[in-house]
Order: sequence, then C-alpha cells, then structure tokens
Amino acid sequence: MSQPKASKIIKEHAELRKALRDTDTYSSDLQGDADVRDYRQIPLEIDPPRHHLYRSALAPYFVKPAIERHISEFRSNSITLVDRYFNSDPSEVIPSLSLPLVMQNLGAIYNRPQDVKEWISWGPDVWTAESEVRSGDVLHRYLDRIYEEALSNTSKDIWSEIAHLVIDGKKITEVEFRGIAGVLLAGGRDTVVKLLTGILWHFARKPEDLKELRGNTQGISEAIQEFLRFLTPLPLMNRTTVPESGRDSLPPDRYVGMSFMSANFDESVFENPFSVDLKRPRNPHLSFGFGPHTCLGNHIAEIEAKVFLEALIQSQFTWQIRSEDTKFHDSPFGLVPDQFRSLQLVAIANAR
Ligand code: HEM
Repeated sequence: MSQPKASKIIKEHAELRKALRDTDTYSSDLQGDADVRDYRQIPLEIDPPRHHLYRSALAPYFVKPAIERHISEFRSNSITLVDRYFNSDPSEVIPSLSLPLVMQNLGAIYNRPQDVKEWISWGPDVWTAESEVRSGDVLHRYLDRIYEEALSNTSKDIWSEIAHLVIDGKKITEVEFRGIAGVLLAGGRDTVVKLLTGILWHFARKPEDLKELRGNTQGISEAIQEFLRFLTPLPLMNRTTVPESGRDSLPPDRYVGMSFMSANFDESVFENPFSVDLKRPRNPHLSFGFGPHTCLGNHIAEIEAKVFLEALIQSQFTWQIRSEDTKFHDSPFGLVPDQFRSLQLVAIANAR
C-alpha cells in the first residue's frame, strides 16, 4: 500500500497495541492509494461501528475451519511447485514458485480456479501489473467484469457471495463491492508472497535451521510465527487523527504511522530481536496488526505457510542462493528484507 508520510510514528509494542484499539483518536477513515483508486478498501478504511457490520459479514469466509477445508489442495499445490522449482534450471523464486502458489491457493479458497492464470499475470503487486507506473486499470477492469458476472451468478464463489451481501438492511453497492473485492485480492498477495519467499531465503542462508526442523516437525508453528515477526510483511499502516469522510479541508499533518515492524523488534518484548530464533518461546508479534482491524486473512497466511513449510521439510531438498537482489529496510532494520527484487535458488543436495 502506498501511504503518505506520517507526522508521527508509534513504535513501541505496548503503545501500539493501545493506539490500534483507540479508533476514536486514531481513525482508519482515510483514503489510501489515492494515486490509483478513489474508493475505500473495506473493511480496512472504515471505522467502528460501521466497520463491524462489514467485518462480521465477511468473517465466516475467513475463519480457521473455512480455510482448513482447503489444506489438501494447498498441500498438492506446494509439493508440485516446490518439486518443479528445484528440479528445473534455476529461475526466479517469485514468478516460478511463491506467486503461483499463493494465487493457486487463493483460487481454491475463493472457488475461482478459472482466474488463477489472470491473477498470476498481474505479478505480486496489482497496482504495477501493467507497467512500473502505478495504475488501478488492470484491477478495476477485472473488478468491473466480475461484478457484472457475480450479480447473475448462482455458483458459490466468493464474488457472487459478496455481490449479494446485505449490510445494514441494504444490498451492497458496486463501489462497496470494489472496496471489498479489491482488498481481498490485493491484501493477500504481496504479503504472503513475501512471507514464503522470505522462508526460502532464510533457509538458503541458514540450512541448519531447516535441518533442525526436519528433525523436529513439532516446531513448525513456532517457526512460522518467528518468520512472520522477523519479516513483518506489512511493516506500517497509517491512521488519521482527523477522519476524512465528508470534509473539505484536512490538515496535512493528520497521519500517524502504526509501525508493526518497530513493535516486532521492541527489545523490551523480544530478546535479540534481530536474530531469527525459530524456537522463540514467546512471540506476541503484531504482524497481523491488533484490535478491530486485525488481519482478516491471518488464518490463510498461517495455514498456507505451514503447509508450504511441511512440503519443504518433506521434499528433502537443500538449497543455496544462486543470485539475489534483495532490498533491505532502512536502519535500524537493515538486516530485514523489504523486497526480493530478484532471487534465484539452486538445490545443492537431494537426499532422496
Ligand atoms: C503474511 C500475510 C499477511 C500479513 C502480514 C497481513 C497483515 C495485515 C495487517 C497488519 C493488517 C491490519 C491493517 C491495519 O490495522 O490498518 C491487515 C488487515 C487486513 N488483511 Fe491482512 N495480512 C496478510 C495476509 C492477508 C490475506 C491472505 C488476506 C485475505 C485474502 C488479508 C486480508 C486483510 C483484510 C481484508 C484486512 C482488513 C481487516 C479489517 O480492516 O478489519 N490479509 N493485514
């Protein structure tokens, strides 16, 4: 998400949790990505109490049991793509492995397997799907098309379910549909892609961590939490001290940054925060946020990552970095990857 520079950033773990709950002082009533869209992403950019109406209508599609129903498909997607990646000539991890995996899994969850190829063609970021210059054209063309289709569609896919949602006694409008479908497509893509790519990158640099997990698969869930903390795939989101709806003039210094990343490296909560400790005993990271806007897709991300890690463990592959162009975060987070602009891995041993 592209966000205007905040005049203040909340960094400390306890203070951030407090602020994320205090939606009166720190409002989400703001328009993000103003360069590429002119509507709210829902429920992300709406405050309680209205936020709650959307959130509770969407929640049933994202609860743990709803996602767990797709585990066998996630597993077969992971095994096939991991095997294919390491058995082929070296290639880029994101287009060859992590992006297709995330999109195939999303196709299963949303019951839209027919869209997977199109979603992959957009690349990891929907706003730069067509060129380096940010634009909403590709996403909006797709959303216009599926809205028409969803209205007349009786099949049980996510878009027809959403197009027929009733909020506060009224069927949702096309703009609301855009706001919901847009965030469901954009929110769960580059974040999960970064998580899965970061896992592969870490094991290439520290194969002993993968070896240890192979000997103790009980540690998989803890390991996922530590990858989520260390990588913090969504590092910061803004709030506004002056809700934007219905106002003509707004102070330019109204934005306050909620730094999930700073909180995840708060030394008063996490010992040696810059070390990736896959056995970290207590890990109250804020990678999925906190409070009413806590990530709706957290079970998707956690379950996908778990199944992916199981597939890596079972594959018996070990790998190293063949080439990389990793952009790291600015100081003090210079050890944490921000963007994998290029990453090629190569298998060094196959113990099968
Ligand atoms: C590793 C993967 C992910 C990370 C790190 C992540 C992170 C976050 C964070 C930090 C927030 C809170 C934003 C705020 O407070 O302003 C959030 C909200 C949200 N996320 Fe995720 N997310 C991930 C995956 C997903 C997936 C897979 C989906 C769905 C397909 C998703 C959909 C959403 C939605 C709809 C919201 C808004 C919730 C609300 O406002 O009530 N996310 N995410």
